[in-house]
Amino acid sequence: MNAAITPKVLVIDDDNDLRYSLKRVLSGHQYEVLEAASGEEGLSMAEQHNPHVILLDNRMGGMSGMEALQHLRGINPNAMIILMTAYGTTQTTIEAMKFGAFDYIMKPFDLKKILSLTESAIAASKDLVKAGKEDAASAVSNEDIEGGIIGSSSAMQEVFKMIGQVAASDVTVMVTGESGTGKELIARAIYQNSLRAQKPYIAVNCAAIPENLIESELFGHEKGSFTGATNQRIGKFELCDGGTIFLDEIGDMALTTQTKILRALQEGEIQRVGSSETIKVNVRMLAATNKPLEEMVKEKTFREDLYYRLNVVRIQLPPLRERKEDVPKLIDFVLKRLARDSKADTKSISPEALALLNQYRWPGNVRELENLIYRSAVLAQGDMILIKDLPQEVVKAITAAAGTAEPVTAESEVAVSASPTEPAGGVEPVASASATTPAAEEGTLLGQPSVDPYDAVYAALRETHASNILEHGERALIARALAECGGKQVKAAEILGMTRATLRKRIDQYDLS
Ligand SMILES: Nc1ncnc2c1ncn2[C@@H]1O[C@H](COP(=O)(O)OP(=O)(O)OP(=O)(O)O)[C@@H](O)[C@H]1O
Ligand SMILES: [Mg+2]
Repeated sequence: MNAAITPKVLVIDDDNDLRYSLKRVLSGHQYEVLEAASGEEGLSMAEQHNPHVILLDNRMGGMSGMEALQHLRGINPNAMIILMTAYGTTQTTIEAMKFGAFDYIMKPFDLKKILSLTESAIAASKDLVKAGKEDAASAVSNEDIEGGIIGSSSAMQEVFKMIGQVAASDVTVMVTGESGTGKELIARAIYQNSLRAQKPYIAVNCAAIPENLIESELFGHEKGSFTGATNQRIGKFELCDGGTIFLDEIGDMALTTQTKILRALQEGEIQRVGSSETIKVNVRMLAATNKPLEEMVKEKTFREDLYYRLNVVRIQLPPLRERKEDVPKLIDFVLKRLARDSKADTKSISPEALALLNQYRWPGNVRELENLIYRSAVLAQGDMILIKDLPQEVVKAITAAAGTAEPVTAESEVAVSASPTEPAGGVEPVASASATTPAAEEGTLLGQPSVDPYDAVYAALRETHASNILEHGERALIARALAECGGKQVKAAEILGMTRATLRKRIDQYDLS
C-alpha cells in the first residue's frame, strides 16, 4: 500500500452503537471506514471494496463471526482480520488464530487499544503486499476441543493464540509454569487442535516412573533384556507412531534417558532396550516441567542440546496470582462442573467470599482453586458458598497478608463488598459498572454490558440477613466509611451524608466503636 492510499477499514458488527463509535474514532485517524451490520453484508462489502483491515464481531445474528472469518479469508486473503467478541472463550481464540485472524480482541476494549491494533494490522498488511504473499491461512481441521480452559486475562489470551499458531505444525512445544497452572491441559489442547488430533496421544509422567523402568516404558524392551523382562514390550514411542507424545515433568528425567529422547527427536529413531535394531518413529513431542530448566542446564543436570531442541516454542503459563481476573470465571467453571458431576449442589459463591478470594495468592494455582472450591461447596449448606465455608487457613492467610487484625467472619461479610465497584483493602473489582454510550471517547470501554453492582450486594444481604437487610447494609457502609477515614467521625459522617450525632448513635447501635 503506498502512502497516498487511505487505508480502508471494514467494521462488521450488528451493534449500531459500537459501529458508530468505531467509525468516529477511525475516521478521525485518517482511515476510510466502511460498515456492515451483519456477516452476510460484510462478505459482500469485502468483495466490493477490498479493505485492508476488517474488524469483525464474533457474535451476530445470522452468520457468526467465525463463519464469516473463514469466508473472508477466501474472498479477501490479504485483509487483516481482527475478531472482536464479548464472549471470549478459549476455543474462539484458538479457532480465530487457526483460521488466520490477524488478532483477537475481547469486548469491552478501549478505543486506544483497537486503534493501535488497527495500526499494526495496517502495517502487517503493507508487509504482506510487499512480500507479495498470498493466503497465509493453512487448511487445518476444524476439530473442536473439549472446552474447559478458562482464561480471559490477556496473559491467557496470548497463550490461546500461541496454541492456535503452533497447533497445526509439528513443532516441539515446551510448556512451563508453576505447579497447577494448567500445563497438562495446554499440552492436550495443542494436540486436540493439531493435524494429529485423530492419531494417538500419549502422556508420560517422567517423574512418576522409576528411573530403571522409564526407558523400557518409552522405548520398549526385548524379552530377557533385564531381570523381569519376561516378554517383549512395545514402548510408548512405537505405540504413538504418527501421533503426539507428551513428556510431562521432563525436568525429572535422568541424563541417560535424555540422550535417547534427543536421538528420537533428532533422528526420529529409537531402539528397544536390549535390541540393536533401529526403529523409525514419527512422533510429535510436547514437554512440560515446573523445574527451572535453564538452571539445570547450567548445573549440567539437563542436557543443553536437548533443552534447545525441546524449547523451539515455549509457552510459559503465568501463575494465577498474575491473572486474578480469571478467578471468578474459574470458580464458576468449577462449580458448574461439580454440579454437572453431581458432586455438590452449590451453584454460586457469595460476592463477599469471592472478593476475599480475589486477594489470595494461590500458591497452588488453578489446582488449589479447584480443590478449595470443591471443599467449600461440599461444606456449604445453602446453594451459595459463604466466607464461613472457606478453609480457615486460607481466610487467615488472606487477612494476615492484608494486614487486617480482625478476622473475617460471616458477620463482617457484608462489609467487605458493600461497595463492589470501589473495593478497599486490595480487593480487586469483580465487575465494572461503566456502560457503553454511542459518544464514547478514546480511553473509554466499548461493548461493555452494564452491570448493576447493587444486584450482587442485595442478593448477598438477602441470603445472609433476610429479615433486616437495611440495617445490615447500613452497618456495613458505616463500617467501611469509618475504616476509610481511619475512624475520624467527622469525615465519615460527611461521606455517609449523616450528621455526626446520628453517626455516633449508629456506632453505638451497631457496636462499631
Ligand atoms: N485455565 C484453566 N481452566 C480450567 N481448568 C484449569 C485451568 N488450568 C488448570 N486447570 C485445572 O487445574 C488442574 C491442574 O492443571 P494441570 O494438571 O494441567 O497443571 P500442571 O501445570 O500440569 O501442574 P503440575 O506442574 O503440578 O503437574 C487440573 O485439574 C486442570 O484441569
Ligand atoms: Mg502436570
